[in-house]
Amino acid sequence: MAQTMITLVALLFLLFHLAWWLALIALVTPLPAFFFSTKYGWKGYRLTRHQSPERRLLSYFMLLMTTDAYNKEIQLFNLSDFLIARFWDLATKLYEQDKKLALRQYFTNFGWSNLSSIANSGIYLYVALQAIAGRITLGGLTLYTQTATQVGSNFRSLLNSISSTYQNALYVNLLFEFLAYQPTIKSPAIAEPFLYPEQSQGLSIEFRNVSFTYPGKDPKTHATLRQVSFTIHAGEAIALVGHNGAGKTTLVKLLTRLYDPDEGDILIGGKNIKDYDLKTLRQHIGVIFQDYVNYQMTVRENIGVGRIEEIENDELVRNAAGKSGVNMIIEKLPQGYDTTLGRWFKDVRESTQLSGGEWQKIALARAFMREAHILVLDEPTSALDARAEYEVFQHFRALIQKRTALFISHRFSTVRLADRIFVLEHGRIIESGSHKELMALGERYAELFQLQAQAYQ
Ligand SMILES: Nc1ncnc2c1ncn2[C@@H]1O[C@H](COP(=O)(O)OP(=O)(O)OP(=O)(O)O)[C@@H](O)[C@H]1O
Ligand SMILES: [Mg+2]
Repeated sequence: MAQTMITLVALLFLLFHLAWWLALIALVTPLPAFFFSTKYGWKGYRLTRHQSPERRLLSYFMLLMTTDAYNKEIQLFNLSDFLIARFWDLATKLYEQDKKLALRQYFTNFGWSNLSSIANSGIYLYVALQAIAGRITLGGLTLYTQTATQVGSNFRSLLNSISSTYQNALYVNLLFEFLAYQPTIKSPAIAEPFLYPEQSQGLSIEFRNVSFTYPGKDPKTHATLRQVSFTIHAGEAIALVGHNGAGKTTLVKLLTRLYDPDEGDILIGGKNIKDYDLKTLRQHIGVIFQDYVNYQMTVRENIGVGRIEEIENDELVRNAAGKSGVNMIIEKLPQGYDTTLGRWFKDVRESTQLSGGEWQKIALARAFMREAHILVLDEPTSALDARAEYEVFQHFRALIQKRTALFISHRFSTVRLADRIFVLEHGRIIESGSHKELMALGERYAELFQLQAQAYQ
């Protein structure tokens, strides 16, 4: 750019020598093109920003129509025409918007660059006439025409650089805006060490008057948790029950600091979880959510991601698989632990697809990879068959040895194995106690239990 400017000044000096107004024309004519190109750059940027939610929707339709997991339902509900039509409408709308802008930009650009060409022709004509009139020599003619052309093109390229720098800056700004986002959930500046006794039976968990409402909802009418208080002693196995939407998963999200409570405190091992380093806290809790991920990777990786630093530790992976009972399935796979699960990346010989329950056992093994002091399982056996569930819970005591366990389940056959059961309703724990105690109480738990038992009679 500096070089262009120096050349430009030198050329301008030369041109001034012949006629100052020639220099002026050469400088003024590229200005409208510059102005409009910058303006359209801004408009393009604004359009891209404005369209981004719709472009995301477009990608979502694409994902729906091209991902195997959605294929069954789309075929059976006959959704392909519906989805294609919506995709098509949206794509056409975005295309029309882009086309409109591109055409306007093109014609404006075309019009104003013609102005430059006309001005250049005028300059040529003037210089030629000067030569004919004998006011300048033939050498002068070449010099001046070349100078005038170069002044124009140098100035244009200078303006173009400014314009494209400006346009790039708009998009870079977007990146900076994104990078400036600060996570609201952070580790404290000085973290408390995560301490647990050598012969630990796990760690205690305490909720003190915890209230939480999801962002954008009214805490008065739509609070998910209202002043929830309870203590889980180290080594206890607690089952959490409650109807759909009662707030069970939310409670786990708060425990793992995916959200912070609006009010109240959560303590692990007697210390507020906000005082622990975030990463360390999460390392010490083994969680499998009900919407766990099925990774399109090998069996080993699918289990190993439960404790990423030990992913190569074959013994640990096999051990975890044994605990969830998935080892029996893996042994029958063509490449054992190296078989790729899912069909996205490998062909039929090198990959396999699992059933829903088999995937769940893989996810369960992932939780057992961790020697975490707290184990949280959100509907860990919902997809398991009766025998598999029975087997998992036969070993459950051994599996959760030296750990505090919290499991969420709608199956009362599972729930009754817990030391204590918490019943969550309307954002509050309304009952707690052992299966026997709650049955004797004869309230909500007993009612739900009877309801399920009746269905089997
Ligand atoms: N990310 C979210 N944003 C807004 N509201 C949410 C969000 N996640 C859950 N909710 C709402 O919070 C309430 C509690 O949800 P939660 O997932 O904790 O229920 P749950 O007890 O685990 O139910 P289920 O038995 O169906 O798994 C529900 O009413 C739900 O609509
Ligand atoms: Mg849930």
